[in-house]
Amino acid sequence: MPTPPSDALRCPPPVLSVVVPTFNEVDNVAELVARVAGALAGTDWELIFVDDDSPDGTADRARAIAATDRRVRVLQRIGRRGLSSACIEGMLASSAAYLAVMDGDLQHDAALLPQMLAALAEDDLDIVVGSRYVADGGLGDWAARRRSMSRLAGGLGRRLIKADLQDPMSGFFILRAEAFRTRVRRLSGVGFKLLLDLFASDGTPLRFREIPYRFGLRQAGASKLDNAVLWEYLLMLLQKLVGPVVPVRFIAFSLIGGLGVGVHLAVLWALFKGLGTSFLVGQAAATLVAMTSNFFLNNLLTYRDMRLRGRALLWGWASFVAACSIGALANVGIATYLFRAESFWLLSAFAGILVGAVWNYAVTAVYTWRR
Ligand code: GDD
Ligand code: MN
Repeated sequence: MPTPPSDALRCPPPVLSVVVPTFNEVDNVAELVARVAGALAGTDWELIFVDDDSPDGTADRARAIAATDRRVRVLQRIGRRGLSSACIEGMLASSAAYLAVMDGDLQHDAALLPQMLAALAEDDLDIVVGSRYVADGGLGDWAARRRSMSRLAGGLGRRLIKADLQDPMSGFFILRAEAFRTRVRRLSGVGFKLLLDLFASDGTPLRFREIPYRFGLRQAGASKLDNAVLWEYLLMLLQKLVGPVVPVRFIAFSLIGGLGVGVHLAVLWALFKGLGTSFLVGQAAATLVAMTSNFFLNNLLTYRDMRLRGRALLWGWASFVAACSIGALANVGIATYLFRAESFWLLSAFAGILVGAVWNYAVTAVYTWRR
């Protein structure tokens, strides 16, 4: 047998990387590895946990398994949150020809992986999706509210993508690395719904097939799906509509800014028109209130994946206020100047807000929620 020309060639990457996003799944990782190993016996695979620094020690538990099994890898992200971005980064860390994504809570059936891989490889497809909405698929025992939410969100998503995919919200799929890499720069990476993101990214249409599966019961830990996930989903849809030119954070910031205008005008109206304060006092107070509410909303929604908490929240707010004080000065200054010149309070307020808003976005993106 000829010796390989270099050490590197002696150990080629596995055929399949199974990317598993985790957040607080400490009691599920060992069982997941066992199930994947059982299902994929005979296939050259690896499993990449992408853990967002779970407080329950998921990453350590996964590393303990990796210490005895090099097919298991752990990518630990610090100060970050997000299911989609975790999957994307796990896939980027792989050199395998095929990439699978599945949940770490045992709700996706690992036993389906060989069938999915075979379909992908043999039938010349780009992606094979575990689907709850084709014949024999199912939702498990989901509450009625979540069932209808899932259908509603799926319907919205289906309008966006051109493919006739029954379950665009599925988090269980397997695709060719090439199909991923040609799209990765156009992915929004926001929220929970990477599959939809992949399908909605323009490029050549994905050749796909759906394979039915039943959504299993969660054994340990809790779901991270909450109302904010819905917001992120809507943001992701919006991002797909406005294209890659406008960043999704700017969209969120603008939406919240729009809300801030409402807050601002309400406060100004109450003080200036209602209580009869001077316009200067009204405008200054309205600016401060709107600035504070914008900070908290942006922290909660725009910068959810790098949300500031506890002490950092306080410092973040302080830096937000400090960084925006120049913007606020410009806001009040310009508005007051215009008001004195024109006596038209609404227009003056809007001009002030606009100048302040542009400042706020640019400066806080750099100083408050710096990466
Ligand atoms: N790294 C990382 N970061 N992982 C996360 C995060 C996060 O911020 N949030 C959730 N996860 C992990 C969980 O630990 C779990 O392994 C997987 O992502 C799914 O999260 P769940 O919180 O269990 O989601 P679910 O069961 O409600 O939602 C599932 O159903 C959807 C179908 O409607 C997921 O499978 C979705 O992917 C799927 O689309
Ligand atoms: Mn789950």
